[in-house]
Parts: sequence; structure tokens; C-alpha cells
Amino acid sequence: MRKKMVQLGFLLMVTVVVGVVWVDRSSAPVAPIHSQGATDSRPSFNKRQYSLTDPASPWVIVNKQHPLVTRTYQPADLVFPAVSLRIPGMTEMKMRQEAATALEAFLSAADAAGYAPQVSTAFRGYQYQKTLYDGYVATEGQAAADTQSARPGYSEHQTGWAVDIRTQSAQCYLEVCYGNMPEGKWLAANAYEYGFLLRYPADKVSVTGYSYEPWHFRYVGKGLTEEMHNQGVTTLEEFFGVSGGTTYKDAP
Ligand code: DAL
Ligand code: ZN
Repeated sequence: MRKKMVQLGFLLMVTVVVGVVWVDRSSAPVAPIHSQGATDSRPSFNKRQYSLTDPASPWVIVNKQHPLVTRTYQPADLVFPAVSLRIPGMTEMKMRQEAATALEAFLSAADAAGYAPQVSTAFRGYQYQKTLYDGYVATEGQAAADTQSARPGYSEHQTGWAVDIRTQSAQCYLEVCYGNMPEGKWLAANAYEYGFLLRYPADKVSVTGYSYEPWHFRYVGKGLTEEMHNQGVTTLEEFFGVSGGTTYKDAP
């Protein structure tokens, strides 16, 4: 009888212990799958997603060290963006389809914020860029020309991914003071939300090779501009670790 009671007591104890463990486990919080190093849950950004050398790639880097691989390159899908254009119908108002669609969203948001931006020039072919550059050289000399105008075959305008924006009244047209106007400030602050970069910032002249251009925006796509914005990096050269600067790789 005494033996039976000991056995029953033991059984009771086992039941209680198992029960307590089961209740404890079932009420425990579910451990996160990535509990280690989970402070930054963003997936790492793939810097090899698009080509940096193909002019048809939205990430192509064109600067004094990286001319267009085909100097007379002509984009395939140029269209007129449905925005205010300085000269409607002129080829130099066109952009690549993807960039044109993004520009429409960007500039209609600027319109809604009370501004009146318009395209000054966007796509510029080799010959148009040559005429522009030669004009600067003739009036200001080559050294000054090189601080503000790309030589033909070296301009990202030739890719169809870049656009110069001005205000419809033409106040501060192609002048640094556009960056101090509320419109210029709004464009600079909001460009990244539409996939555009202010390509030639005032504090990055030695990186980009060009003077501050508050009117020049470059489409690269929202995935990249948001990543650069989050990291606080403002130039393509710095983000991708690609050379740039003020000297030309080859004499064109
Ligand atoms: N003004 C820019 C640098 C260009 O000519 O492409
Ligand atoms: Zn430009």
C-alpha cells in the first residue's frame, strides 16, 4: 500500500512538471527568424543590378573619365514628356520613355506644390552638344567651357536620361540663383522621390568635374535615388566608386 502511494505520488509529480513545461513553452514569444544582427532588416542593395557603362542603362555613368562607349550614341525610345516644354516639338525636349514618365510625375508634383517648371533641354545629340560646347569655347575659352559644358560624346544629355529644368518665367535661367529660388529648392529636395538626382551639386565639383548646376537632373530610377538618399551619398561616382573629376580621359 505504501509502495503504491509512492508510485502515485511520483506519477503526479511527473504530470505536474510536464504540464508546467508545456504551458510555459506554448506561451513563450515566437523567436524571430533572424534574431542575430537584426538591427538592420533592409536587404542589402544590389549595386550590379544595371550596367554602369551601357548608355541604355538608367545607371550609366557619363563623365570626363567615362565618355559614351559609342561617341555618337542615339537612344532608341525618345518621347516628348507631357510637361511644359520650352520649345514644344523640338527634339531636344525629348527623353527616354521611362525617364519621361518619371519626369511627368516629378513636375506635376511641383505644379501641385505651386511651382511652374518646364523642360529647358533634355536629350541632346552629339552634333547639338558639339555646337553648344564650341559656342562656349568661342565666347569664354576652353578652360571655362570645360567647367560648364561637356564635350560631345561626354554628355549625359546624349543618353536621354538627363534634363535641364527652368521656371516658365525664365527667371535665373541657367544661373546658380535658380537653386535659391523656392522652385529650385523644391526640385532639389524632392527629386529623389521620383528617381532623379541633382547631378552637379555645389560641393562636389571635384568629383563630377562640373560647376554647380541647380537645373540639371539625371534620371536613374527610384530604387537607386532612395538608397543614395538613405546613405547620404549625392554623386554616382561616390556611390559606385567610379572615377570622375575635372580632367578628360582622352582628347575627343
Ligand atoms: N552641362 C552638362 C555638364 C553637360 O553639358 O552635359
Ligand atoms: Zn544639363
